[in-house]
Amino acid sequence: MTGTSLPMLNMVGRIKSLAPHYRTLVIVGETGTGKNLAAHAIHNFSPVARGPWIEYDCASFSNKLFEIELFGYVRGAFSGALRDRVGLIAAADKGTLFLDEIGELPLVAQAKLVRALQTREVRPVGATWSKQVDIRVVAATKCDLRSMVVNKTFREDLYYHLSMLDLKVPPLRDRREDIPLLANTFVEAFSKQFNKTEQNISARAMQALCNYHWPGNVRELENTIGSAVLMSNDGMIELEHLPAHQLGSQNSTVQNSEGTSGNCLLSLAEVTRRHIQIVLEEVGGSKTQAAHALKISRATLYRYLNDSG
Ligand SMILES: Nc1ncnc2c1ncn2[C@@H]1O[C@H](COP(=O)(O)OP(=O)(O)OP(=O)(O)O)[C@@H](O)[C@H]1O
Ligand SMILES: [Mg+2]
Repeated sequence: MTGTSLPMLNMVGRIKSLAPHYRTLVIVGETGTGKNLAAHAIHNFSPVARGPWIEYDCASFSNKLFEIELFGYVRGAFSGALRDRVGLIAAADKGTLFLDEIGELPLVAQAKLVRALQTREVRPVGATWSKQVDIRVVAATKCDLRSMVVNKTFREDLYYHLSMLDLKVPPLRDRREDIPLLANTFVEAFSKQFNKTEQNISARAMQALCNYHWPGNVRELENTIGSAVLMSNDGMIELEHLPAHQLGSQNSTVQNSEGTSGNCLLSLAEVTRRHIQIVLEEVGGSKTQAAHALKISRATLYRYLNDSG
């Protein structure tokens, strides 16, 4: 996991200290922050690193399939069940079961899951016996499970079971120091992937990346760099290779989640230039219309655009 900021170092430290001991753990964080990567890291640092890693996306199955997928079934349990099938929980024996997007799990499924997690036993569909399993469970979610409990969309017992230990993955806007390192890492990876000569990020483009608030977090940064590498031709990623909405003047002062300013302030000339770019975008690129909307002459508009600040 790339990153040398304090929040990242703290998180990696917590992963290392939890990994040997946890039985059940929940990873919480906004979309694209790196929850799946963190889950893999926990497994890799755990004593069952060489055991199975079984991943289940709770958002992708219906109530009925959930039971079959997780618990398995025995031959004859239903028409079409021609042979026994091991469920994912049993398959994770002596390893890790990763329950991704746990907040999406339907309530019926939650009831069955919490029982299995508490007893560490699985009873396949149609079986008269239960099997003991020795599993570690890592769940991940971008939902606020506590308020889901209040709204009765998440079971309280499952919530308490999962949240005994938690790992919070910080949003990218709270670890902006990592942006240059992450961006350069992605540039290198995409340059290789697209068979391009190694690209660099210009100082102004990097400044824009540092200032943006990244609602899609590391995934959004990765995608931005991917398309910028594709678009740039002369070995340098410039502002024009970044999406217009990431250059918006609303991000002209850097804010973190607490709403306090960071140390990466834009000059007034840069803010002006970005605002003009937004207006230009809105009027379809016409400098005459943009100048009219901004109540300045075309000459002044050109001057502002060329002012490097
Ligand atoms: N610290 C990091 N270093 C390098 N790459 C990272 C880092 N964090 C996230 N990524 C990359 O960002 C992308 C999103 O990460 P991941 O899938 O782990 O996020 P997530 O929190 O699980 O997202 P979602 O909530 O949408 O499931 C992946 O391509 C991952 O490789
Ligand atoms: Mg994920």
